[in-house]
Amino acid sequence: MLKIENLHADVDGKAILKGLSLTINPGEIHAIMGPNGAGKSTLSYVLAGRPGYEVTDGSVTFQGEDLLDKEPHERAAAGVFLGFQYPVEIPGVSNVQFLREALNAQRRLRGEEPLSGGDFLKRARAQADALGLSMDMLKRPVNVGFSGGEKKRNEMVQMGIIDPTLAILDETDSGLDIDALRTVGHGINTIMRKPDKAVLLITHYQRLLDYVKPDFVHVLAAGRIVRTGGADLALELEREGYGAIAA
Ligand SMILES: Nc1ncnc2c1ncn2[C@@H]1O[C@H](COP(=O)(O)OP(=O)(O)OP(=O)(O)O)[C@@H](O)[C@H]1O
Ligand SMILES: [Mg+2]
Repeated sequence: MLKIENLHADVDGKAILKGLSLTINPGEIHAIMGPNGAGKSTLSYVLAGRPGYEVTDGSVTFQGEDLLDKEPHERAAAGVFLGFQYPVEIPGVSNVQFLREALNAQRRLRGEEPLSGGDFLKRARAQADALGLSMDMLKRPVNVGFSGGEKKRNEMVQMGIIDPTLAILDETDSGLDIDALRTVGHGINTIMRKPDKAVLLITHYQRLLDYVKPDFVHVLAAGRIVRTGGADLALELEREGYGAIAA
């Protein structure tokens, strides 16, 4: 589904990704762990097409098409979703407005009919219920005044409504309380654990992986994948730290 080969990328003229290769097949959940500053968020931004992140070498194909050739909104319409490490606040625009616009813009680009207001609200309510966020919060401006944990839940509600093919989730577990972690883990499984979908889960801690069991765990250090293993690798890292492998 996603094939990253020898990816090099610069931010502000500084090389951050230095030859990163990774293949994700349909139905797989991949976790990426790694020290602060290794380039994990940079990878997520490069895949989403954030301006200022310049690819200098390598290739990325998504479902057989060149992903790097597409504009950010085209990538979203093609089925790529990015959950931010730091979700952005959008004053003056309600979650409901924002999500309906986003969803229908993607549907139009795919040649599908836009969802009616009623159908959209039904879908939004179902996702909000599943993630324990009230409809009142969905009517508030996007993330404005939301607590850290509420922002992360809101990201998962967005993901449920958008229903992407590939979700890249950057530290979705940070700032969540114990119950929210379970709710969000369950949400990721319900929305994304399907034979035709895949997830790239960036995390620092093994605890989310108790709920969302990865097929592969990768260690990203200094801009490249330096080690790949199964779910056990996360436990090993938690015990032993990055020192031995990422030095
Ligand atoms: N706009 C920028 N200008 C200069 N350096 C940047 C910029 N954005 C990112 N970097 C640098 O790129 C490196 C990788 O950052 P990135 O956010 O990808 O790390 P990360 O692996 O996500 O870390 P964390 O675990 O702390 O979230 C860091 O050294 C960071 O300072
Ligand atoms: Mg990061």
